[in-house]
Amino acid sequence: MRILAVETSCDDSAVALLEEGRTVAEFIHTQQIHSIHGGVVPELASRNHMEVLPGLVRKALEVARWKLRDVDVFAATAGPGLVGSLLVGLSWTKAAAWGSGGRFLGINHLAAHIHTHYTGPDSVEFPATVLLVSGGHTILFSMTGWDRIRLLGSTRDDAVGEAFDKTAKIAGLGYPGGAILDEMASRGDPHNIALPSPLPDPSNPEFSFSGLKTAVRLLWERGADIYDLAASFRSTVVEILVSKLLYQARELGSKTVLAAGGVTANSLLRSRLTEECSGIGLKLLLPQKRYATDNAVMVGKAAEAVLQFNPDASSSLGCNAFARWSDSVLKTLCCNR
Ligand code: KG4
Ligand code: ZN
Repeated sequence: MRILAVETSCDDSAVALLEEGRTVAEFIHTQQIHSIHGGVVPELASRNHMEVLPGLVRKALEVARWKLRDVDVFAATAGPGLVGSLLVGLSWTKAAAWGSGGRFLGINHLAAHIHTHYTGPDSVEFPATVLLVSGGHTILFSMTGWDRIRLLGSTRDDAVGEAFDKTAKIAGLGYPGGAILDEMASRGDPHNIALPSPLPDPSNPEFSFSGLKTAVRLLWERGADIYDLAASFRSTVVEILVSKLLYQARELGSKTVLAAGGVTANSLLRSRLTEECSGIGLKLLLPQKRYATDNAVMVGKAAEAVLQFNPDASSSLGCNAFARWSDSVLKTLCCNR
């Protein structure tokens, strides 16, 4: 089976070609136009996807030596995300499916992040606990199968990536700030500045990060050292994520822990999870850094999983773009309308 996967949910335009579980070609274009605005400007993002996407598809097809008519399944992210951005990738992919007679699937972006770890139906030992941390989401899920994903808790306000980005913006560090703040934190001492730990009880699967960001702003305005501040912020956030994830993993008798989303590129989160999981003999799956942030390979893998469990699955060409997608139960990995 040959899959062409497209991702345009935010500010990355990405295309991947997969064949029988193998990535044959992939191209990604990360938009730089937003950095001067300190955040993603939705209309600029949509327009940029419009310009860039056809060229990425053309290059991927050239590398793979495929024609559009060789593709069996056309998969695109349908949500959650920026609706204008999603519509560009969705419309392009639907048109390609329609024109070449292939099947179309509108994929759930959250499921796609989790499926970055999918390499076949038996690739993970269940039950598993999932930490999904990105610019738009901070969620704990329990998983008893690739198509059985249940919400445990999420953030009450800012997503953790958003908190990293906003904190970096307060200190004028540029956008997106997560990776910059991570790098600065490695040069500071987290013990020099005490920050409040929001909703610290490990047994509470909910998160809150907006108060932490405000605490950083007040300290920054009073002249605190930026490296120590970054270190303290990163360490406070990471300890909350790690303690809540491991509490749930223990409670649910999980055999595996899956981490996914852009914030899993964070160096302290990676080392702390590795340390804690190996300490208690829990299998940990961390994405390679390049597959932590948005990409199209994960969309292709989610499409593979959808078809593995339901060979007749398809989305209609009327499938819409969704700003939100009910994540209480990830029953619908793909758009079933
Ligand atoms: O998964 P992703 O590419 O997009 C969404 O679906 O939101 O995640 C992007 C987020 C941004 O907020 C970015 O600042 C954050 O991931 N991020 C990081 C790091 N690298 C990317 N946050 C903390 N430390 C990093 N090294
Ligand atoms: Zn994402």
